[in-house]
Amino acid sequence: MSGSKVTGTVNLAEEGKDTIELPLVDGSVGPKVVDIRKLYAQTGHFTYDPGFTSTASCDSAITYIDGDQGVLMHRGYKIEELAASSDYMEVCYLLLKGELPTEEEKTKFSTDITYHTMLHEQLIQFFRGFRRDAHPMAVMVGVVGALSAFYHDSTDINDPHQRMVASYRLIAKMPTIAAMAYKYSVGQPFVYPRNDLSYAENFLHMTFSVPAEEYKISPTIARAMDRIFILHADHEQNASTSTVRLAGSSGANPFACIAAGIACLWGPAHGGANEAVLTMLEEIGSVDRVQEFIAKAKDKNDPFRLMGFGHRVYKNYDPRAKVMQETCHEVLDELGIKDEPMLKLAMELERIALEDEYFIEKKLFPNVDFYSGIILKALGFPTSMFTVLFALARTVGWVAQWNEMMEDPGQKIGRPRQLYTGYAERPFVPINKR
Ligand code: CMC
Repeated sequence: MSGSKVTGTVNLAEEGKDTIELPLVDGSVGPKVVDIRKLYAQTGHFTYDPGFTSTASCDSAITYIDGDQGVLMHRGYKIEELAASSDYMEVCYLLLKGELPTEEEKTKFSTDITYHTMLHEQLIQFFRGFRRDAHPMAVMVGVVGALSAFYHDSTDINDPHQRMVASYRLIAKMPTIAAMAYKYSVGQPFVYPRNDLSYAENFLHMTFSVPAEEYKISPTIARAMDRIFILHADHEQNASTSTVRLAGSSGANPFACIAAGIACLWGPAHGGANEAVLTMLEEIGSVDRVQEFIAKAKDKNDPFRLMGFGHRVYKNYDPRAKVMQETCHEVLDELGIKDEPMLKLAMELERIALEDEYFIEKKLFPNVDFYSGIILKALGFPTSMFTVLFALARTVGWVAQWNEMMEDPGQKIGRPRQLYTGYAERPFVPINKR
């Protein structure tokens, strides 16, 4: 394990007779972990942890979360500080390379990214192959996976240079692919990237400009877009990141791994929650129906959950949700949207849920997705694009984690075991005797 050290051992009672000692490993911050790698060899037992609620699947120096305190840090810098004082390109550099860039390094990095913003022209045929009403996440999974068929010079995973080129390509091309998925769904012409614009400005330009008229980008809106990207950039070993690592652990190419991550992110328990929040708010419709939906969320026999509430790791307010709420007010002010009913409804829902015994006892707080949908809707994105924006922003996290894994000399293929509950051996019955 790189960057971690064994600081002791724990004793496990082995079927009431023997005890075995397992190393206790210390990272830099956070709880120690019990290293169980030798457990099976020593005892013949596996551990059982569906959903990985007590399992560290790797060691990583990129992102740290303290779920009880509501803390999120990238390379030691708190997310609130990064959101307030940094920008997305700087955060990308930080995640990928480990340190904040100097001015010179940042300019070079941002310029290098712009060299890769265009897509191979033939890839346009891929978009045309989809139905116009396809969900843009379905388009993203397909097109990002297809990149491996176009950029053969960056698929050798054993070459550090090619790995970095693939990473830059993915960060640079995601906004282009996302904007094209949107343009295709509304039947407007694709808009090529403009490298004189910032990352967020360029994305807004490719998404919302049309050849018929000039498109002016508001600095407040571009800043809000950039901040949304920062807030989604990485989140340690969440489901999609673990998917990227697991896919990558077999030696799959980076584009295929990121396509796998996008597929995982799509689900409503993960990145799909931002879309689900807005659908839920629309369904609730008015403040006087909030109690009814809170009751549904608490009812064990009702599958309904308050979308945008709860988190596997945060048992406190998600620090990203706080920044998102502030950004929401800024965006609505800039757009001159007064008394947005959806925001009022969301704030009332939050207030009531935070006072409710059920949510207090289960430590269910608003997460990053609770307010993001309201902002994205105000910016003019259809709900189906919300998770696409999450995927765009999370790409840097995925490639940073994938690179970290590929650079680890102890890296192994991910291969969990199972608790088998099927039949024990039984004789085969010929078909005429069944
Ligand atoms: N509404 C009502 N009850 C909930 C909710 C919710 N949103 N979330 C959890 N609970 C209850 C759940 O029913 C369970 O109760 P009990 O112990 O009585 O069975 C308890 O709280 C623990 O829930 P869990 O499902 O065991 O917890 P988990 O860590 O497996 O799930 C979660 C975490 C995020 C999937 C879940 O809280 C959830 O489904 N939230 C809504 C979807 C959502 O907002 N997802 C976005 C997550 S943040 C962005 C991202 O990472 O992609």
